[in-house]
Amino acid sequence: MKVLVVGGGGREHALCWAIAASPLCEALYCAPGNAGIAKEATCVPIPAEDVEGLLAFARAEAIDFVVVGPEAPLVAGLIDRLSDAGIKAFGPSAAAAELEGSKGFMKDLCAANGIPTARYRRFTEPEAAKAFARELGAPVVVKADGLAAGKGVTVCPDLETAEGAIDEALVGGRFGAAGAEVVVEDFLDGEEVSFFALVDGTTALPLASAQDHKAAFDGDRGPNTGGMGAYSPAPIVTPELEARIMAEIVGPTAEALQAMGRPYRGVLFAGLMISPEGDPKVVEFNVRFGDPECEVLVTRLMSDLLPALVATAEGQLSHLTLRWLDSAAISVVVATKGYPGAYEKDSVIRGLDTAGADENVEIFHAGTASNEAGETLATGGRVLAVTATAPSLAEAQTKAYTAIDLLDWPEGFCRRDIGWRALGG
Ligand code: AMP
Ligand code: GLY
Repeated sequence: MKVLVVGGGGREHALCWAIAASPLCEALYCAPGNAGIAKEATCVPIPAEDVEGLLAFARAEAIDFVVVGPEAPLVAGLIDRLSDAGIKAFGPSAAAAELEGSKGFMKDLCAANGIPTARYRRFTEPEAAKAFARELGAPVVVKADGLAAGKGVTVCPDLETAEGAIDEALVGGRFGAAGAEVVVEDFLDGEEVSFFALVDGTTALPLASAQDHKAAFDGDRGPNTGGMGAYSPAPIVTPELEARIMAEIVGPTAEALQAMGRPYRGVLFAGLMISPEGDPKVVEFNVRFGDPECEVLVTRLMSDLLPALVATAEGQLSHLTLRWLDSAAISVVVATKGYPGAYEKDSVIRGLDTAGADENVEIFHAGTASNEAGETLATGGRVLAVTATAPSLAEAQTKAYTAIDLLDWPEGFCRRDIGWRALGG
């Protein structure tokens, strides 16, 4: 099977690492990939958002199966274009990807189907939005409706912040068309978990549990990021809670989309808040793997990932079971100093081979390139996802930080406390 993975981050490196190990994979391409992915796949310089370019490449190379990592090409209809061209692909159609592409759509779907989520309303008029924020009272959350590169959500501790966020989106046009409508919703208290399930239209198969750390700095302080680290399993997701999440959230969501004529095929990522009473509520849906959650999931997966992705695309999930390692995995993101704000590009990272020498450590690249001298350069905010597996989470954490300490990259930084909730730190 000739496989094309779309994307160029740590998630796509992890996907390529797992797919390259499959006996079913004869040739592996990644668009655009990065310096780490180039060790697993042939990288082709087509941006992940270039739907027509990707389609043309898949046709020209007679690709058998396309795996799409990020949300933007899914929302833009890459899967629809590939399937019209007779090319099999993993990921939801544009119609199903609206679950992530429009927060208003997702909230309406939850409301119409009794799926637990925060109380909300949708607005295009700033004054009406502010009146509703006052009605809910602080803290309150303001969300741009569309995709805003992870910056569209403002958790507002007071009404002043909420009014500012509403004006920025609806009056100032900060998010362009993505913020021409906002959702104003109740703040949910509790512990966040990332829940993943493969969904093939009708059948949903839960994956191992994971939790990420969104704040930039230790102690969950500082600005929100795409994720500074993740671990699996997440002890908060007991078998009982998993059963409830499947019955109350994942199942009804898949059924609702099916009934709307938008069957969901792909990985459904439910960002959940577990209330202090232990009840799960949907914070958001994503239509892709989380990053760096994907890194910990694939390193714990014993089964071959590729046939699981194919079975999802073909509606054959009811025939599939997945086996997971009993061990724990942790992934620590090493980012360029300054991230998520402004940062310098193209500093040289040394010591990667030494740091990654342990057979239970994988250094997934999130934002790197090679220069002509063969050196690895940091090209992004999140640059590496250093991922370790071990019998216990505590040992995995030690292994990940031991590896990081062997890196020679003064321009990088990482959180030192990834996994603290599960380790009782
Ligand atoms: P998103 O950009 O949709 O991933 O949201 C960013 C983060 O904002 C989430 O991971 C939560 O930590 C937080 N958040 C979003 N909505 C709520 C809510 N209703 N209550 C509490 N926190 C929220
Ligand atoms: N780590 C969270 C995300 O991928 O959205």
